[in-house]
Amino acid sequence: MCGIVAIVGKSPVAPLIVDALKRLEYRGYDSAGVATVEHGKLGRRRAEGKLVNLDRRLKDEPLGGTIGIGHTRWATHGVPNETNAHPHFSDGVAIVHNGIIENFAELRDELRRDGYEFTSQTDTEVVAHLVARELAQGAAPVDAAHNALKRLQGAFALAIMFSDDEDLIVGARNGPPLAVGHGEGEMFLGSDAIALAPFTNSITYLEDGDWVVVRSNAMQIFDMDGNKVERRRQQSLSTSFMVDKGNRRHFMEKEIHEQPEVIGHTLAHYLDFTKGAARPFDLPFDFASLDRIAISACGTAYLAGLIGKYWFERYARLPVDIDVASEFRYREIPISKQSAAFFVSQSGETADTLASLRYCRKAGVPIGAIVNVRESTIARESDIVLPTLAGPEIGVASTKAFTCQLSVLAALAVRAASARGTISPDQERAMVRSLSEVPRFATQALKLEGQIEQVSRELSHYRHVLYLGRDTNYPLAMEGALKLKEISYIHAEGYAAGELKHGPIALIDEQMPVIVIAPHDRIFEKTVSNMQEVAARGGKIILITDRKGAANATVKTLETIILPDVPEFVAPIVYALPIQMLAYYTAVFMGTDVDQPRNLAKSVTVE
Ligand code: M6R
Repeated sequence: MCGIVAIVGKSPVAPLIVDALKRLEYRGYDSAGVATVEHGKLGRRRAEGKLVNLDRRLKDEPLGGTIGIGHTRWATHGVPNETNAHPHFSDGVAIVHNGIIENFAELRDELRRDGYEFTSQTDTEVVAHLVARELAQGAAPVDAAHNALKRLQGAFALAIMFSDDEDLIVGARNGPPLAVGHGEGEMFLGSDAIALAPFTNSITYLEDGDWVVVRSNAMQIFDMDGNKVERRRQQSLSTSFMVDKGNRRHFMEKEIHEQPEVIGHTLAHYLDFTKGAARPFDLPFDFASLDRIAISACGTAYLAGLIGKYWFERYARLPVDIDVASEFRYREIPISKQSAAFFVSQSGETADTLASLRYCRKAGVPIGAIVNVRESTIARESDIVLPTLAGPEIGVASTKAFTCQLSVLAALAVRAASARGTISPDQERAMVRSLSEVPRFATQALKLEGQIEQVSRELSHYRHVLYLGRDTNYPLAMEGALKLKEISYIHAEGYAAGELKHGPIALIDEQMPVIVIAPHDRIFEKTVSNMQEVAARGGKIILITDRKGAANATVKTLETIILPDVPEFVAPIVYALPIQMLAYYTAVFMGTDVDQPRNLAKSVTVE
């Protein structure tokens, strides 16, 4: 999603802004731009595509000025080209924006009637003209910005700069995050603390409805009524060094390989391996007295939640209502007073997930956030933060965050089962032991990389792929399909293996590879029957299983990938790795932009 950086500084800011924007690249974008003020004049460079294009523009035509705003744009209104790239200008006003101005059409008509001409297809440009109109009517810059902000409906983070004041930037937040960075004689605004980390670790997060006047030596935050408000200044944990790929080709590859370590860290945070028990940290509810829990999330995080549902229901006998957040937030779901709600999110900023959280907040139930970014909005608005210790995840396709989310959910399921007396102390010890072995199993799974690379070469020749699984392997099948389509652009679907004959079997022919995720578990034989149905129709099966499964599959496969024997409880965490590697190598063979696939954003701050 769009990224914002703004600096009221003391040295030329354009190169600093571009460097900070590079740290926001992971969010996904399709054009970028920077504007500065020098000697009372606005200057701007914009470019379609990657930041390297903007860098090139700036090399050919440098921009001076010690105050500036920059932006990476993820297109919502209007195609990703240079004209639609931010910053947008209007009579001495420059603006960058993340989010959606919902009433932009109405405002645009009004501004057109007043003679303002629109040069872009964006919703953002209305804000520039609104502020400029206020200035033209005699308002001072800060009042002009405030008056314009009051007209806006929707979700936005904004930075506004004026040619007439080289020591002023106005920022605003209503939805997407915006943070103020405090420097020595210079101040910053950024979409997150990672962008600002090279400049400062001293951060103040704006809250929804806040707007801020930033000058080189001071800042003041206001609410929409113009009252001064105080927000806590805190030390950010973000590191100032740029996260790099090490010796890997892509961040995604590096992140896949980090999993044994980060899963281990995450599990150790929640489980006492020595005692063989879930750690008894404080929770804002007692699992024993809950009648159900609600889980909501988007994309991969939702699929982690869905696997969590299987665990909570099977081991803790605790019913789970789960929905994708974009549905959850509008469906008027009844929330039991005896429940707790969990929101799963890598970024902690996903707009739909945040809205679902606020819905549950209104219902008055305790809220837990399973997040990777601990300083995120979802973390801040929850009663308890349950961190995934995956470290920064840069690849747009979520990998290590997913397995760490699963690790947290598995540990919570153990804790819930123990609290509710649905497992014995011996069973708890066995489950904790199984989890403690996951980093080792994951390491063994990574050793299959060579074989998976070969299978992926074959997969890259197809246009459609079907994934099948039962039980927890069903959400994993959906995750495999999501991963493949998002980075290789091959169409893929994940199905419950038992549903095959209710429709998707019509798709099966020689052109349809079918990836079956089937460890030798309680229901393995059922999945074998489904594989036979596929084989009988010429479908090409790639089976991901264990030794016993491979020996008992009784069906011809194109390839069988044999994972270590793992306890059923932890299988989805371990089986996630070959699924991720398949998608990764297929994308590499397809030659796509693996870390920043087209049209996708890492942090989805609009609905
Ligand atoms: O930051 P979040 O975990 O809330 O993001 C949710 C989804 O946007 C995310 O999982 C998305 O589906 C990934 N690109 C999947 O790889």
